[in-house]
Amino acid sequence: MPASTLITNIGELWTLDPALDDAPQQQVLRGAALLLEGERVAWYGPMSQTPAADVQVDAGGRAVLPGWVDSHSHLLFDGDRSAEFEARMAGRAYAAGGIQVTTDATRSALAGDLLEPLVRARIAEAWAGGTTCLETKTGYGLSLEGEALSARLAGRLVADGTLEEATYLGAHLVPREYAQDPDAYVDLAAGAMLEAALAAAGGRMRWADVFCEDGAFDEDASRRVLEAARQAGLGLRVHGHQLGRSGGVALACELGAASVDHVNHMSAADIEALAATADRPVRDAGAGTLAVDAGPTVATVLPACDLSTRAPLAPARALLDAGARIALASNCNPGTSYTSAMGFCVATAVLQMHLTLDEAIRAATRGGALALRRRDVGHLGVGARADVHLLEAPTAIHLAYRPGMPLTRAVWRRGRPIITARRP
Ligand code: NIG
Repeated sequence: MPASTLITNIGELWTLDPALDDAPQQQVLRGAALLLEGERVAWYGPMSQTPAADVQVDAGGRAVLPGWVDSHSHLLFDGDRSAEFEARMAGRAYAAGGIQVTTDATRSALAGDLLEPLVRARIAEAWAGGTTCLETKTGYGLSLEGEALSARLAGRLVADGTLEEATYLGAHLVPREYAQDPDAYVDLAAGAMLEAALAAAGGRMRWADVFCEDGAFDEDASRRVLEAARQAGLGLRVHGHQLGRSGGVALACELGAASVDHVNHMSAADIEALAATADRPVRDAGAGTLAVDAGPTVATVLPACDLSTRAPLAPARALLDAGARIALASNCNPGTSYTSAMGFCVATAVLQMHLTLDEAIRAATRGGALALRRRDVGHLGVGARADVHLLEAPTAIHLAYRPGMPLTRAVWRRGRPIITARRP
């Protein structure tokens, strides 16, 4: 890998540099260059002042963005649920119970040590669309052994730098073995299973999540798991208000969760509750991270999932207007959103959720980083991780103007080219 790479002739450079948050119009430059040194951004500025570098890449007037930060995915699975999707398109409603189908397939794959190549292939797909920072969850093992094996795999992927953030989701669904005694499963998910997952991940798991919803875990059960996870030192995330007003939003705000995700069924009071957390101060935790137990509860909207389940779109516009912090994520999973295409999510947020392009891009970069309590990604300020997305377009509005087109030309992750341009 060259020690330094200078990307020149950038038509539109979205640095989203936090140092310029008071002057947001300066966070997008025209006719600019960007210098990557090792794993970091070392400089950006006008073409007239470009420094020397080992390698130069001519962007040809195209647009450059920070890599997407996808703060919600479920990549640790095996099995196919396309028939369920097809039935849904014919009118059947989505229900939490479909998770069990994936659990059966995932347990066999984990037992045979067959999951890792599938997960690595999914991550490679995400990178090919410009994603450079990914969170993923356990949650399809749903037994002590299954969750521990999933956590071990997630920990391994974090350790080798493939994945950034791992989340324990033992409370995804009460598996059929516990159908007669769901409380015993909650005890397990908040106790021995949590401990086993943390040990298996080898200290590389920062988060716990619960599916707080009808058919999954009610507010009391969710609280039990989240409080145990917080006690164990994990930051909190909540799947909330996907199918109805489950109480997950208030719970997330009360417990200081970093994010509540889905947020499809929202009252004015729910939106207000999230907005009221927007100014909670963050706390630096070193090495490019923020403390998991401080800061706002980010509302993470998942437009691909909303489309795939024919749910009412999350009210991203109203959340922003009320002053809440939002993130945009793929929710890549086999049941409700089998896509990691963040460009598609950005396009949908603009076309259907009525965000401006600027709001959608910020939600898919800086918003995701805040939801994951990271300072090092989601922007191209000096010192940021050199995660760069070169578009096959002169301006970023093409993402919404040409939805579905292959607009990722090249991607650098930690300063290393991982997708290179095939076309001249
Ligand atoms: O985020 N909502 C819960 N979990 C996933 C779906 C899981 C599944 O149906 O397999 C989601 O949509």
